[in-house]
Amino acid sequence: MTPTEYEYLRKFLKDNSGLDLSADKQYLIESRLLPLARKAGLSGIGELVQKLQGGARPLITNVIEAMTTNETFFFRDKVPFDHFRDHIMPEVIKARAGRRSVRIWCAAGSTGQEPYSLAMSLKEMGAALTGWRVEIIATDLSQEVLEKAKAGIYSQFEVQRGLPIQMLMKYFKQTGETWQVNPELRAMIQHRQLNLLHDFASLGTFDVIFCRNVLIYFDQDTKINIFNRLARQIEPDGFLVLGAAETVVGLTDTFRPIPERRGLYKPNDPRAAAAKPAVAGAAPRVAVMAGR
Ligand SMILES: C[S@@+](CC[C@H](N)C(=O)[O-])C[C@H]1O[C@@H](n2cnc3c(N)ncnc32)[C@H](O)[C@@H]1O
Repeated sequence: MTPTEYEYLRKFLKDNSGLDLSADKQYLIESRLLPLARKAGLSGIGELVQKLQGGARPLITNVIEAMTTNETFFFRDKVPFDHFRDHIMPEVIKARAGRRSVRIWCAAGSTGQEPYSLAMSLKEMGAALTGWRVEIIATDLSQEVLEKAKAGIYSQFEVQRGLPIQMLMKYFKQTGETWQVNPELRAMIQHRQLNLLHDFASLGTFDVIFCRNVLIYFDQDTKINIFNRLARQIEPDGFLVLGAAETVVGLTDTFRPIPERRGLYKPNDPRAAAAKPAVAGAAPRVAVMAGR
């Protein structure tokens, strides 16, 4: 790969997915894109770049998706889910007792382990949420991971990563060598393709936003821009949850960290959500929680 081709790909990825590659990541591009080029019948990265410059559509999507890192697992890092159960949801339940509804957005939810972990956590709250309207929207840039998330089918290896055995038995059905999330849990989640670089105002506002382990791939300006737009989609008393290597500190004052609760943030300006955008789009998938 020539330096010019590398620079083209760096800019292409930054503009299209936010991925910010340093000057020395040629090996990463080659390891992910050479197989893709060969599969498309191209001679190598040079020809791939020519096709991208010519606007070859399926190839553009394939290149963007091949460069995303989709690593995830059930109840990843544990602590955010403990916070969700012990701190976030008790506060939400108190604050929304009047309207008995909660909206949760799992931005960059990858292959579904994160939104399903949230859905299982909500189910485990049992009677506290009986009769509540619960909406979980899981989004990701990659259509490929979304398809897997929607199907909710995982290998033995995947269910062994982070998922307590009792939850596996309770919420999954084994079919041969794989495990599928049960229909009730699947019905709690709405999966949508969404690029965080693009406008997401039409999603409406949320009580809780999980946006974990995606902003680490972006440069500072992109992070700031996304934080500022996330602040408009969160209720004034809502919660933002970031990954262990991510923070708003030093980047924006639209959110503030909650002391003693690593990874949790509150919106700073209660007026941020005042200019709420209209909720557009198809009728949302809302689960009404049944009693036990
Ligand atoms: C490392 S995974 C994190 C998954 C999950 N949030 C977790 O913490 O386990 C990052 C996900 O971000 C998605 N992603 C990357 N760039 C994105 C963008 N611009 N907009 C939306 N999602 C993006 C990738 O497709 C990938 O599935």
